[in-house]
Amino acid sequence: MRHSKPRVFVTRVIPDAGLTLLEKHTDADVWPHDRAPTREELVRGAKNADALVTLLTEKVDADVLAAAPRVRIVANVAVGFDNFDVAAATKAGVVMTNTPGVLDDTTADLAFALLLCTARRLAEGDRLMRTGAWDGWGIMQLLGHDVHHATLGIVGFGRIGRGVARRALGFDMTVLYADEFPASPEVERELHVTRVPLDELLARSDFVTLHTPLLPGTKHLINAQSLEKMKRTACLINTSRGPVIDEAALVQALRSGTIAGAGLDVYEHEPKMAPGLAELDNVVILPHIGSASYATRGKMAQMAASNVIAFFEGKTPPNALNPEALTRPT
Ligand code: DGY
Repeated sequence: MRHSKPRVFVTRVIPDAGLTLLEKHTDADVWPHDRAPTREELVRGAKNADALVTLLTEKVDADVLAAAPRVRIVANVAVGFDNFDVAAATKAGVVMTNTPGVLDDTTADLAFALLLCTARRLAEGDRLMRTGAWDGWGIMQLLGHDVHHATLGIVGFGRIGRGVARRALGFDMTVLYADEFPASPEVERELHVTRVPLDELLARSDFVTLHTPLLPGTKHLINAQSLEKMKRTACLINTSRGPVIDEAALVQALRSGTIAGAGLDVYEHEPKMAPGLAELDNVVILPHIGSASYATRGKMAQMAASNVIAFFEGKTPPNALNPEALTRPT
């Protein structure tokens, strides 16, 4: 029976909703800096910890786990977990968790905001005003693309993709989706969506929005060839993971007019951007803020903390990615 509180290394100051819980139930050691720990710093913090609470900036792989032999649970404050080597964790008897569900609407809001911003050139307009370059109303000024009644293609029709489809209903859009798994006929009817092969979606859509996790099969899903299949007037929106797009190919496509524009919240090598991207006027670039609302970030932190606490209470963490790790003798 455990008498002392488990030691948890938390890799950043997270919202109070999660921190308070952790501080009540565990001995929380919070990385105090406003930047991600380096790999060495992560290993140093993890070394004597029983659990880790990480952000998507921390890569937790076999080497980190080997350097932190006491760690039994790693809780990501993110739904995406491409920063985790789940197979290595299972092998080491370490359970990993994420934060599904609580950020769907917030991320769908951001995807739709990016879509509107890109289509109607809001960021360019903002720059024009701030630089004092606006010299009055012009009939040919900042013409953009209509969102209402346009065709929207959703790549990856999970919870967030469906949230975007729901928002598109209010704009009278025709909505196509591409996903390995078809939605039920009830969902397709309710959201007025039609499943089509990816190539057809790319060819027919005025807006293509990406909502697929980063997996070996989705890396560079959007590359030079797929960009060629899109309409020259189309815009590409990405709030999923950067490496789903070949970013160098996208810069080329935006430069040459292969597509009209892009709205990006995520990048292939964060926090860096592909050379040339930031110089383009037809791209809206945000710093990975899909889930960044006060309420949602609070829920994510609380969920991660609850997973850790459940584990040390001898329960299966509600959002375990590899519950089989719990049954593995260590
Ligand atoms: C996630 O949760 O995976 C987002 O990218 C950050 O909220």
